[in-house]
Amino acid sequence: MPKRIIILGATGSIGSGAVDVVRSHPADFDVVAVSALRSKERCEAIAAELGARAYVGEDAAVRAVEENDADVCLVATVGVSGLRPTLAAIEKGMDVALATKEVLVMAGGLVMGRARAKGVRILPVDSEHSAVFQCLQGAHGGAVAKLTLTASGGPFLDGPADLSSVTVEQALHHPRWAMGPKVTIDSATMMNKVFEVIEARWLFDVPVDAVEIVVHPESVVHSLVTFADGSTLAQLCPPDMRVPIQYALSWPDRLQAERAPLDLAALGALTFRRPDPGRFPCLRFVREAGGCAPAVLAAADEWAVDAFIHGKIRYTDIAKAVEDALANAPRFELTSPEAVYEANDWTWKYLSR
Ligand SMILES: NC(=O)c1ccc[n+]([C@@H]2O[C@H](COP(=O)([O-])OP(=O)(O)OC[C@H]3O[C@@H](n4cnc5c(N)ncnc54)[C@H](OP(=O)(O)O)[C@@H]3O)[C@@H](O)[C@H]2O)c1
Repeated sequence: MPKRIIILGATGSIGSGAVDVVRSHPADFDVVAVSALRSKERCEAIAAELGARAYVGEDAAVRAVEENDADVCLVATVGVSGLRPTLAAIEKGMDVALATKEVLVMAGGLVMGRARAKGVRILPVDSEHSAVFQCLQGAHGGAVAKLTLTASGGPFLDGPADLSSVTVEQALHHPRWAMGPKVTIDSATMMNKVFEVIEARWLFDVPVDAVEIVVHPESVVHSLVTFADGSTLAQLCPPDMRVPIQYALSWPDRLQAERAPLDLAALGALTFRRPDPGRFPCLRFVREAGGCAPAVLAAADEWAVDAFIHGKIRYTDIAKAVEDALANAPRFELTSPEAVYEANDWTWKYLSR
C-alpha cells in the first residue's frame, strides 16, 4: 500500500523536493493534499499532476490536514505558520515529517508532548536532524554523549570583514544550498544553527549543552553522534535535500534514488572548524531558555529577517533586534498554543513599534 501523504508548503523549496521524491516513487506514495500560501496556479498544477486536492491561502495548511486523512504530513511552511497544522496533524494521528524549524523552537514541549500522547512520530526533514536520526537508528537509550551539528557557514563565512552593509542579494546567495529566503538568511546569520540546537534538544531528548556546532563548508557530513564509548557516527551524502526528505517520507524503509553516490576520493578533503562568534553573533542565543523566550526568539528572528529583506533594517541589526526582544519580553510559560501565539504577537508588536 502506498503511504498517504499531505505536503504543506508544496510550492516551496522543500515542498518541490518532496514532489520530486514522489514523482520518482509513484508506487510508494499517494499524495492526498498539497498547500501553498499564495502560489495558487503552481499549487493547483502540482495537485493536478499528483491527483491531490489543492489548498491555498492563510488557513490552507490547517484545512488540508483537517479535511484529509494521511499517514504522514510533511510540514514545510515558513515560521510560526507551521505550528497549527503540525498540532492538527498530530491530533488526527498522522506522523509529521517536520521541516519547519520554528515549530519545535517555539513549541517543542507542547508538540512533543502531544505527539507522545497520540503515539505519532515527529520525523526530521532538516538534513542535520535527519543525519542524527539516521545515526541513532538501533542505538539504545543513555548511550549518546554528544551531538555535532554541521554548518556550511553560509555566504559570509570568510568575508567581507564588515557585515553592516551587506545587501539582501549577497545574503541570499548561499554557496551550497538553494533554499527559501527565510532559511537562507538564517543560514547566513547562523540563526538556523541556534534553532537546530533547540530542535535537537526536543527531537533527541538531550540537553542543549550536549549539542555542538561545527563549520563544515563542503556540506557533505550532515551531522554526527558521539556515543558514550567514544565512537562517533556520521551521516554523509551529497548536499541535496531530497535525501533527507525521502528518508522522512519512507522511514523506516530506504528507497532507491537515481543519484550518484558520494565519491570520497574525488572530494579529497573534508574540513571542519569552530564557528567564529564575532562573525556570527546570533550564536550567543544558543542556551537553555525558559518561559516564553524560545517563542520570542523565533518570532523576533522572523520579524528581523522580514525587515532586512524589505530594506527596513541592516543585516547586522538582525541579532540586535532579537537581543532587544528577548531582553524586554514579558515572562510567562508556553503551556498552550495560545501562549505561543501570544508571545509571537507580542514580539511582532514590540519590534514594529
Ligand atoms: N529549503 C531548505 O533546504 C530547508 C532546509 C531545512 C529546513 N527548512 C525549513 O523548511 C521550511 C520551508 O522552507 P523552504 O525553503 O521550503 O521555504 P520556501 O521555499 O519559502 O517555501 C515555503 C512554502 O510554504 C508556503 N508558505 C509560506 N508562508 C506560509 C504561511 N504563512 N502559511 C502557509 N504557507 C506558507 C509557501 O507558499 P507560497 O509559494 O504560496 O508562498 C511555500 O509553499 C522552513 O521553515 C525552513 O526553515 C528548509
